[in-house]
Amino acid sequence: MIEFCKFMKILHIIGARPQFIKAAMVSKAWGQNGEEAILHTGQHYDENMSRLFFAELGLPEPTLNLGVGGGSHAEQTSRMMTGIDQYLEAETPDWVIIYGDTNSTLGGALCAAKRLIRTAHVEAGLRSFNRAMPEEINRVVSDTLANLLFCPTVKAVENLKNEGITRGVFNVGDVMADGLFFFLKAAREKSTILEDLGLSPEYYGLVTLHRSGNVDNRDTLAAILKGMGQIDFPLIFPVHPRTRKMLEQFNLAVPGNMHVIEPLGYLDMLMMEQNAECILTDSGGIQKEAYLLGTRCITLRDETEWVETVEAGWNCLTGADSSKITARFYDFKPQGSRPDIYGDGRAADKIIEILKTS
Ligand code: UD1
Ligand code: UDP
Repeated sequence: MIEFCKFMKILHIIGARPQFIKAAMVSKAWGQNGEEAILHTGQHYDENMSRLFFAELGLPEPTLNLGVGGGSHAEQTSRMMTGIDQYLEAETPDWVIIYGDTNSTLGGALCAAKRLIRTAHVEAGLRSFNRAMPEEINRVVSDTLANLLFCPTVKAVENLKNEGITRGVFNVGDVMADGLFFFLKAAREKSTILEDLGLSPEYYGLVTLHRSGNVDNRDTLAAILKGMGQIDFPLIFPVHPRTRKMLEQFNLAVPGNMHVIEPLGYLDMLMMEQNAECILTDSGGIQKEAYLLGTRCITLRDETEWVETVEAGWNCLTGADSSKITARFYDFKPQGSRPDIYGDGRAADKIIEILKTS
């Protein structure tokens, strides 16, 4: 088996910011086990949404970047699929590895399945049970097609079981927790973001916002901003390009207590999360990071895939309700312990061990 593994070839298919972090950890764990290629769909393309992460996290340069950019779901996914399929025709890997729930995940899952190439889904089994979320559709399809399903939590395994998916399912822990544990020391040593922004620990809140359900509708986005404006505290807002575009399109101004900055690199983001008094977000990854770092989290959604953070009392849901957002900022004060939900920082190692023997 060891000899065979030396010649194994894996292909990571990635395209969006959180996937660079997840793939970086799996790539590190893969090490010299065999060949590795990285297909970047180009879904995210700004310097600080893409290249910066490769550089900071030591993720090898993409073997190929399809440069698909934005567009409707159909346009974006079909451009990805054409490029991915051409690559798979020329370079058949032993395993395709897909991550999370973006259109890049879906494109990779569909192309690999049609070419009968074995597929491993990292961060399998997550469900919001809300089909209005494009990510939910991407997850359901990817989990149906994948041969190996690497779940980050017990709940994710249960979700798959409820859909009749039990073969190839492993609870390995969360590769994003691996990333946080691995990079936190470097972040503490290297990041100067608090000084750069003139911030003191615990004297600011951190806001991120990018879900289509929150930012693509003017009234919804305006309600969230209203809730933020009613908070008498500085809020730092590294604005996602989607949200920046929508703020401009809707001609909406952010309230005076919100300080808009460019998207941050991963190390700076970890420091901003750790030192924030509160995080207000609709991001999946940031809810978990808040939990792991012990920063209270207000989630600007009606439901979450990361239910354990809510059950443990460190995360609460407000949706886009401006009164709830303001009220929770003042009355939500978590105190309990934070059980070890996301594994021991070795999820990626476990993934590689299973890949090598499957
Ligand atoms: C995508 C994922 C979402 C994930 C998020 C992580 C889908 C359906 N959504 O959402 O699950 O949580 O990434 O951040 O796959 N844009 C830029 N520059 C960039 C990237 C995007 O200007 O570097 C613009 C695009 O042109 C587009 C908009 O932002 O107009 C949205 O980008 P897109 O990748 O389609 O979706 P995200 O909202 O980023
Ligand atoms: N992140 C970052 N800089 C930012 C915003 C987010 O490095 O300005 C990191 C964050 O720490 C987390 C990941 O990106 O690791 C989350 O990505 P995002 O919120 O874009 O997507 P989601 O997790 O919701 O799919």
